Amino acid sequence: MKTQVCIIGGGPSGLMLSQLLHLKGIETVVLERQSRDYVLSRIRAGVLEHGFAKLMREAQCGERMDREGEIHDGFYLAHDGKMDRLDLHKYSGGNSVMVYGQTELTRDLYEARDRMKGVVIHNAQDVQPHELKSAKSYVTYRVGHEDHRLDCDFIIGADGFHGVSRKSIPADVLKEYEKVYPFGWLGVLSRTKPVSPELIYAKHERGFALCSLRSQILSRYYIQVPLSDKVEDWSDDAFWDELKRRLPAEVAAQLITGPTIEKSIAPLRSFVAEPMRYGNLFLAGDAAHIVPPTGARGLNTAGSDIHYLYQAMLDHYQKGDSTGLDHYSEKALARVWKAQRFSWWLTTLLHNFPDTPEYDQKLKEVDLAYLFSSDAAQRSLAENYVGLPY
Ligand code: APR
Ligand code: PHB
Repeated sequence: MKTQVCIIGGGPSGLMLSQLLHLKGIETVVLERQSRDYVLSRIRAGVLEHGFAKLMREAQCGERMDREGEIHDGFYLAHDGKMDRLDLHKYSGGNSVMVYGQTELTRDLYEARDRMKGVVIHNAQDVQPHELKSAKSYVTYRVGHEDHRLDCDFIIGADGFHGVSRKSIPADVLKEYEKVYPFGWLGVLSRTKPVSPELIYAKHERGFALCSLRSQILSRYYIQVPLSDKVEDWSDDAFWDELKRRLPAEVAAQLITGPTIEKSIAPLRSFVAEPMRYGNLFLAGDAAHIVPPTGARGLNTAGSDIHYLYQAMLDHYQKGDSTGLDHYSEKALARVWKAQRFSWWLTTLLHNFPDTPEYDQKLKEVDLAYLFSSDAAQRSLAENYVGLPY
């Protein structure tokens, strides 16, 4: 088999690129290790920057997002028993974010691929890129007992943090930067009315908490927990009690609790791999970088990679100009590192770290006090949260 662009990974990054390229007549094949049901059962964050929402529309996948998603013009930072609101609209020059679950977004992308008869091969095992530095790159994989070979011009590694693509770059070329945080997030989904129409990020001496939502009848809540905690240790009641303790009293009093329909613990990690290109292989999304979820940058940073790659591929195939491909890694990484900085800063500001010296603790307190006393500081937070320009 032969195609122009072989995309490894059928998560949001891979599907989005495949959809955008197909709309411009560029052929792609997506190889996904899991079944579609499995991919669509993963629950992930749900805040899209306006640039990502624009990409969804450009990919002709924005209809349901525009109908069911919620535009949010601000969010709250709860601390010291009070709530400060960050006015995103005011401080970002009229921008906002879209609250729309990543699982729904991935479903929309799959449906769009089906409508266009895009080729997505599920349950592709032992996917392996070959000959990355030659003009004859190809990918091998197995479905059931059958071995396959796919010849292509380019290979996109959109196979997430645990994928095979990044590992195909020789160790003496690849440089990895990593920071692992000493806690995780325990998250629950519940069919209850959200406690607040806008997100609440809460800093508390017992640990961070987040009140988020998927719709007006579906809530998503998180609390910071030690990495040693197990999901089984947390009954629904224990979760709700702890969440309430970390919210201002008037918010806790409003919280509607109920049985949880999903409960999981995720570790927090910052990670960047450089470069994002090796020969004909281009990394995108979680395959190249991970952020802690605090600033909702994960999917959005994947979005800017896809935007740069898409534009570069168009220049290559339509104008014979490969400058965009040559500069992809450098350009994508410049924005990736800014998202890393922002996610690290917000995570550090709002979480409890074991053994924080008193001096550092004081600095965190003054950081928050400064934020809500300074228009410039709020502008900085807002421009990062709605998404830096591509
Ligand atoms: N072969 C084929 N597919 C693979 C392989 C492999 N060896 N390894 C992983 N995959 C698939 C995974 O099953 C997954 O469906 O690649 C896909 C990668 O998807 P994601 O992990 O969702 O990564 P990405 O598409 O870059 O999405 C961006 O932003 O908010 C964050 O982590 C969040 O998923 C989100 C990400
Ligand atoms: C979520 O709704 O899952 C969510 C929202 C905002 C974040 C992280 C997660 O910063």
